[in-house]
Amino acid sequence: MSIWQMRALNGEDFDDARAVADEWFGHPVGLTMHRLFFDQLGTTGLRLAHADAPEVLVGVLLGFASLADPALAYIHFVMVDPAVRGTGAASALYREFGSRMTHRGCTRVRSLAGPARTGSIAFHESLGFAGTFAAEYLGPDQDRIIFERRLPF
Ligand SMILES: CC(C)(COP(=O)(O)OP(=O)(O)OC[C@H]1O[C@@H](n2cnc3c(N)ncnc32)[C@H](O)[C@@H]1OP(=O)(O)O)[C@@H](O)C(=O)NCCC(=O)NCCS
Repeated sequence: MSIWQMRALNGEDFDDARAVADEWFGHPVGLTMHRLFFDQLGTTGLRLAHADAPEVLVGVLLGFASLADPALAYIHFVMVDPAVRGTGAASALYREFGSRMTHRGCTRVRSLAGPARTGSIAFHESLGFAGTFAAEYLGPDQDRIIFERRLPF
């Protein structure tokens, strides 16, 4: 049996996520974690908790199916409580999202990471993503690595 409990996010989860996001990321996330994702993603936004403490937020994934490229599932944002890192929390979120998107017909999944985000880069590589460096992808001084892999995981 899974140690995790996962369910779709909704607008009422925003305050809990907002309260921890800057600390969990290590820098202000600003409107990258806009409330619209919580209100509008439906079943492709995921809230993670421990099965034995479901009221305590331990992870968030904001993802969706691309309208421009319906075969592409896109993970915009993921964060996990530093207290549980290295225990498979983010992997569980990615795998659940991947399963949901595979059922919707997606065959690829994409995510971005900053070149200095070594933890995020190692995480994506461990899940079999291949990264492509994109200079100034988000504007001046905002290089990104575009990670992509096939679905299903
Ligand atoms: C990146 C992040 C989501 C990983 O979450 P996590 O729950 O610790 O990841 P998992 O436990 O599922 O790790 C899976 C694998 O990724 C690798 N990994 C994850 N974090 C790593 C790190 N900091 N350094 C090296 N490898 C790492 C490990 O190989 C791990 O496999 P293992 O089973 O061999 O240990 C988490 O560190 C985080 O929330 N960081 C801040 C927010 C962020 O950077 N988000 C991503 C950009 S949007």
